[in-house]
Amino acid sequence: MLTDLMKRELLAEIDRTETRQAACIEALQIVQRHLGWISNETLREIADFLNMTPDELEGVATFYNHIHRKPVGRHVILVCDSVVCWIEGVEEILEHIRATLHIEPGETTSDGLFTLLPVQCLGACDNAPALMIDEELFTNLTPARFDEIVAAYRDGKS
Ligand code: FES
Repeated sequence: MLTDLMKRELLAEIDRTETRQAACIEALQIVQRHLGWISNETLREIADFLNMTPDELEGVATFYNHIHRKPVGRHVILVCDSVVCWIEGVEEILEHIRATLHIEPGETTSDGLFTLLPVQCLGACDNAPALMIDEELFTNLTPARFDEIVAAYRDGKS
């Protein structure tokens, strides 16, 4: 259910756009920041708020792969699964993530802290391999660098 705070944030975003519909990606992101993911019920509520149909908003949510339509962990690791990152060694990073967090792409760690998801190019090809955790981009990754990043998140970075 959309809270009053979420509705205020949505209205502030709508004020910045010409139409309610133009705010739809940001609206999904705002609600996702609060709830962690977008359930079908939440999607219907947001669509109502934006004067869109659920199907229209679903199309946006499906196209934009940073919107989570299933429950995720507290932090979402988005590993670039595109060609430049593969050339630059993202496979080694993925193997390291599997070995250290004990999860496969699509899974969440048993403590609920991290979900691992593959995504298309993160737009950081010049500094591949790259991944994002929540909304923060990390580039020039090595397994050691990944360990440092994860340790910071485990230590309470949020
Ligand atoms: Fe990975 Fe572009 S291919 S950031």
